[in-house]
Amino acid sequence: MSGIEEWPQADGAVWHVLPYRDGQLVLTGKGQELLEDRPEVIEHFSAYERRMLGGIALEGVTDIETRSFVASGARSSVYDMAPGVVVKEAIKEGSPVGVLQRMDRLFNIIETDVPRWIDMPHQYGVVVARSLSKDLIFQQKIDSGITVEWVLRPELCADYQREAVEREFGEVPESERELIGQAFDASRRVLSQAIEKNGENPRSYLTDFHEGNMLIERLRTPVASHRHKMWIIDQ
Ligand SMILES: Nc1ncnc2c1ncn2[C@@H]1O[C@H](COP(=O)(O)OP(=O)(O)O)[C@@H](O)[C@H]1O
Ligand SMILES: [Mg+2]
Repeated sequence: MSGIEEWPQADGAVWHVLPYRDGQLVLTGKGQELLEDRPEVIEHFSAYERRMLGGIALEGVTDIETRSFVASGARSSVYDMAPGVVVKEAIKEGSPVGVLQRMDRLFNIIETDVPRWIDMPHQYGVVVARSLSKDLIFQQKIDSGITVEWVLRPELCADYQREAVEREFGEVPESERELIGQAFDASRRVLSQAIEKNGENPRSYLTDFHEGNMLIERLRTPVASHRHKMWIIDQ
């Protein structure tokens, strides 16, 4: 790839900035590792882009199955891009690169100071371009994107959300619902303490902390006696 600019970050990481259409692609360290380990992801992104823009694949070019819908929230829709990688297509507002820097800092705090039952998906990078109607945010995919809200408040959920819980969790007994509620409350305390320990203000990092922004997985082997893993997103 040509025209890569290096962009040193406060914590010593070096991000890459590449020209992309009439804008830029910013790759975190994790994003650079992804493309090194799995260069075919670039092909997936080309196919993704064609589909997003409604273009038709050139004849003879194998089209990769991509951009299948995962879930949506208030400001974005999330799609599969490559195996294990999703794209969040987000309404443009503020600076997605600033958000990426904040999330990356939170990721590092979690990695160092938070027990393994709380985690965050890898943040690979963003595309910001004037000619695109959405910002594109690349992330590690966590299962079907089931949130604490989908499990605890099925009455608020769309059919695809209830179906995903049904498929992956089956019946959720009341006792498990209680555990999940308690773990969610505990996760806020644990995260806040870790952020403070790192000399930062929790309010600057937990900017939109609610049940709909916490993904949840059942663990086969409990971690520190927790039977679920929680993944914080969208802060
Ligand atoms: N990394 C991810 N892996 C799997 N699903 C995800 C991921 N990030 C988000 N989702 C799904 O997409 C939904 C919307 O994502 P979110 O980042 O909360 O966007 P919004 O800004 O619209 O609230 C989430 O509720 C979740 O179901
Ligand atoms: Mg959200």
